[in-house]
Amino acid sequence: MQGFHMIQLTEERLTLNINTVYLWLINIDNEIENMDHLRQLLSIEEMDRANRFVFEKDKQRYIVTHSILRLIISKIISLEPLSIRFTVKKRDKPCLNHPEHQDIHFNLSHSGKYIIIALALKTELGIDIEFINPVLDRDQMVLSFCSKQEIDTYHQLPVDLKIKAFYTCWSRKEAFIKAIGEGLYFPLNDFSASIDSRTKPELTFHGKVPFHQNWTILDIPLDDKDYVSALVFEGSGYQVQFNYWTTWGHREKW
Ligand SMILES: CC(C)(COP(=O)(O)OP(=O)(O)OC[C@H]1O[C@@H](n2cnc3c(N)ncnc32)[C@H](O)[C@@H]1OP(=O)(O)O)[C@@H](O)C(=O)NCCC(=O)NCCS
Repeated sequence: MQGFHMIQLTEERLTLNINTVYLWLINIDNEIENMDHLRQLLSIEEMDRANRFVFEKDKQRYIVTHSILRLIISKIISLEPLSIRFTVKKRDKPCLNHPEHQDIHFNLSHSGKYIIIALALKTELGIDIEFINPVLDRDQMVLSFCSKQEIDTYHQLPVDLKIKAFYTCWSRKEAFIKAIGEGLYFPLNDFSASIDSRTKPELTFHGKVPFHQNWTILDIPLDDKDYVSALVFEGSGYQVQFNYWTTWGHREKW
């Protein structure tokens, strides 16, 4: 994939640079064979949650996501994966429950066969990945979830760009509402994202915004044309380091 390089966390410790956002892209299909090992890294509460999923696919995705999150963080804070404690902020944004590591921020997203984990020091962030579902009634989705400005731009686009535009806009907006930790509690009409996937990602706020506006928004380059992804973080001047996750040296096919 464009910009991504392979990282196997064989080294004992992972040192984070300040002013860098780290991304890990995981292909769930490649981790199925590691499931028995990965499930052992989860807490009892996480296993309970995994077991409550009706569909096996959702259960597997949850296990892979949360075990690999534990593995990555264990290399950063030098704790066994199972000793890592999580909690949630308001609106349930997950965070670490280790006062001495409160400057480590992370966020994750999953869609289709991918999981993406974003992590950085001293900056809040939000990440989103979306499978571009070609069968969705995109016009209806746009009317239901987009702002007036987004709807107007959407209607001006050529028909072949519309479906990707909707998902591009959605992932840009979702990365933002996850960065501020509000999730869907934040009114989606109160701001707009640039909708055309060929244009620079931008956020525009309508009226009063209860947050300062020093956010950077980036599209994440993926070679897989069926997916779009966006990252939002607080501040500017950060580098982004793109990594594939491969447990036990499994090599990606592309
Ligand atoms: C956060 C939210 C936008 C995620 O959207 P999604 O497309 O379903 O899922 P994604 O895969 O992109 O992200 C899910 C991950 O976001 C994280 N997350 C959950 N709440 C979050 C929040 N408030 N802010 C940032 N990240 C959040 C979690 O890690 C979650 O994964 P997990 O459940 O496996 O731990 C959405 O679920 C949300 O707003 N939830 C909280 C509010 C809510 O439930 N509102 C409903 C009534 S308005």
